[in-house]
Amino acid sequence: MRAFNWSSFALGIGTINAFTCDPTSLQEYLGSGISVTSAKYLANNATFEVPSSDIGFPTSPTNLPALCALEVKVPSTSNSSYSFGLFLPDDWNGRFLAVGNSGFAGGINWLDMGAGVKYGFATISTDTGHSSTLLDASWAENDPEAFVDWSYRALHGSVLVAKDLTQKYYGKGPAFSYYTGCSTGGRQGLKEAEIFPDDFDGIVAGAPAWWTVHLQLWNMKVGMYNLPTDAPHHIPQELFPIIGAEVLRQCDGSDGVIDNIISDPRCCNFDPETLLCPGTTAGGCLTSPQLDTLYHLYGDWVEANQTFVFPHLELGSEGNWGMLLGSDEPTTLGTDYVKYVLGLGSNWTWQDFNPSVLALSEKLNPGNATAGFDLSAFSKKGGKILHYHGLSDGAIAAGSSLYYYNHVLRTLKPRGIDLDGFYRYFMVPGLEHCTGTSSTMNAPWYFAGANQAGALGTGVSSVPGFADAEHDVLLAMMAWVERGQAPEYIIGTKWNNDTLQDEVARQRPLCMYPKQAMYIGTGDVDDPQNWACEMLYGGNGLRKNN
Ligand SMILES: *[C@@H]1O[C@H](CO)[C@@H](O)[C@H](O)[C@H]1NC(C)=O
Ligand SMILES: *[C@@H]1O[C@H](CO)[C@@H](O)[C@H](O)[C@H]1NC(C)=O
Ligand SMILES: *[C@@H]1O[C@H](CO)[C@@H](O)[C@H](O)[C@H]1NC(C)=O
Ligand SMILES: *[C@@H]1O[C@H](CO)[C@@H](O)[C@H](O)[C@H]1NC(C)=O
Ligand SMILES: *[C@@H]1O[C@H](CO)[C@@H](O)[C@H](O)[C@H]1NC(C)=O
Ligand SMILES: *[C@@H]1O[C@H](CO)[C@@H](O)[C@H](O)[C@H]1NC(C)=O
Repeated sequence: MRAFNWSSFALGIGTINAFTCDPTSLQEYLGSGISVTSAKYLANNATFEVPSSDIGFPTSPTNLPALCALEVKVPSTSNSSYSFGLFLPDDWNGRFLAVGNSGFAGGINWLDMGAGVKYGFATISTDTGHSSTLLDASWAENDPEAFVDWSYRALHGSVLVAKDLTQKYYGKGPAFSYYTGCSTGGRQGLKEAEIFPDDFDGIVAGAPAWWTVHLQLWNMKVGMYNLPTDAPHHIPQELFPIIGAEVLRQCDGSDGVIDNIISDPRCCNFDPETLLCPGTTAGGCLTSPQLDTLYHLYGDWVEANQTFVFPHLELGSEGNWGMLLGSDEPTTLGTDYVKYVLGLGSNWTWQDFNPSVLALSEKLNPGNATAGFDLSAFSKKGGKILHYHGLSDGAIAAGSSLYYYNHVLRTLKPRGIDLDGFYRYFMVPGLEHCTGTSSTMNAPWYFAGANQAGALGTGVSSVPGFADAEHDVLLAMMAWVERGQAPEYIIGTKWNNDTLQDEVARQRPLCMYPKQAMYIGTGDVDDPQNWACEMLYGGNGLRKNN
C-alpha cells in the first residue's frame, strides 16, 4: 500500500490556544454583525449530523477525526447574508482548504468538508447565501444581491473570516491554502483565481461551469433539441445506450486499444447513419428526424450570426445524457436562470426562447458569475491551478474546458506567461459529470477530485489504498505548491466495486493537455505502467501507436 509521506510535509504547528469550541467563546472572536449559528466539538470517528435545513447538501459525513465544527453567519449587504461551515481538526496539518458547491444548490457542502478534514486541513464551505436544491434558482427572483453571493461574494467573504478564525483557534495561521470544487465549484475556483488571487495557493477546478451566461442557456438548448416528446425527432431515453454502444463500436479503437474507453473523442470520425432504421421498422435504431437531433447534440451551438455559443456533447457521453435529455421539459438549470436570474418572470417557458435571450444574458452578465481569462495576477503570485474535465460529461460539454484553457493561453502567452508553469489541464476519458463512469466504459474515473470521495461513501477520503501525490489530485497540488513537483499526469483508479473499494479493476494515467495516455504496446492495458503520456502525433505527422 502506498501512502503520502506527510512527515516530509510537516510544518511547525502551534497549539490550540484561543477560543474553545462553544458558541459563547467563539462569538468574542467574530467581527461585528457576524454571528455563530452553532459550535460543537466532535470526538474521533463521529458523524456530523447535517442540519435538516441544509437541503443543498443533505448528506452527513461520517467517521470524522476529532474536530470543532462551526457554522457562522456573515452579512453581505443590508438585506443579504451567507453562512459557512468550518471543521477545525485537533490533528491539524497546518493548512486551509475550501470546498465548492454544485449547480444552484444553496447549502454548506459538509460531505466534501468531511473528505477534506480527514487530510488534516482546516476545511470550509459556504452555503453561497441561500437555501435551495441543486436545480432550483427561484431564490434569485428579484434578488440580484443573492446572485452576487452565489457568484463569488459568499466564498471570498467566507474564506477571509474562516482564515481569521483558523488563525485564532490554533494561534497560528495556515501556511498554505487550497481549494477544490467541481461544476459550480470549478467555476468558483477559477473565479477566485481571477479576482481574488490572494485567497489560495492552489486551486483544483473540475468540470467548471465557468461560462454562466452561455452554459445555463445551453443546458436548456440541449433539452430543447429533443423536445417535445411527441415530436418525430424526439429520441427516447431507451435509445441512449444503443447510440452509446454504436459510438463505442466506431470510436473505441481510434486510440489503438479496444478496451471500451474512448481516449479522445475528437479523433473519431463517427458515422451516425449506421444507426438509421432500415425501412419503416423502428426500435433499436433511429429514424431520419431522430438522426437530425443527434447531429444537433454532437454539433456546437452557433447562433445565426456565426457567434459560437457553446461546444457540443462529446462522443462517448451518452451514458450521462439523462439529466439534460431524459425528461419532457428542459432542465431548470436553464429555464430557472431565464425566469429568475435574467428576470423574464415565472410565466416564461422554453417555447419562448429566441436569440434575444442570449443577447440579454450576455448584456446582464448576472453577478459577474462568468469566469474571465486573465489569470495573470494568480500566476504572478505563484498560484497553481489543476483543471480537469470528464470526456463523458453530459451536463457540461467538456469542450468548454478546453475553450477556457485556450483562451487563458491566448490572454497570457502574449504577455510572456508560460501556462505549464502554473496552470495544467487534464482530460479524463470516461469520467461523467464530476463523478462516476458508465458501466460499459468502466473507466478509471477516481482521483479524489471534488465530490468524488462522497460518491464512494460518507466516510471516504483521498484514494483508498493509493493516498499519494500520483493518484490523488489534491495531494498532487500540495506537492506542486510546496515542493515544486509539477504533475505531468494523475493516475485514475476504478475498483471492481467502487463502494467497497475492493480490487482495483483499472488504473491509467490522465495526462496533462495536450499530451494523452498512449499504450506502450505490451502488457496489461489496465496497468498504468503500460501507458505513457505523449503527444498524439509524432514529429513526422503520423499518429503514434496506430
Ligand atoms: C468508527 O466507527 C465505525 C462505525 O461507523 C466502526 O465500525 C469503527 O470500528 C470505528 N473505528 C474506531 C477506530 O473507533
Ligand atoms: C435588498 O436591498 C436592495 C438595496 O436596498 C434592494 O434593491 C433589493 O430589492 C433588496 N432585496 C430584497 C430581496 O429585499
Ligand atoms: C402569469 O400568468 C398568469 C395567468 O395569465 C397571470 O395571472 C400572472 O399575473 C402572470 N404572472 C406574472 C409574473 O406575469
Ligand atoms: C450575434 O448574436 C449574439 C447572440 O444573440 C449576440 O450576442 C451578438 O451581439 C450578435 N453579434 C452581432 C455582430 O450581431
Ligand atoms: C462586475 O464587473 C464589473 C467590471 O469589472 C464591475 O464594474 C462591476 O462592479 C461588477 N459587478 C459585480 C456585481 O460584481
Ligand atoms: C458493491 O457492493 C455493495 C455492498 O456490498 C453492493 O450493495 C453493491 O451492489 C455492489 N455493487 C456492484 C456494482 O456490484
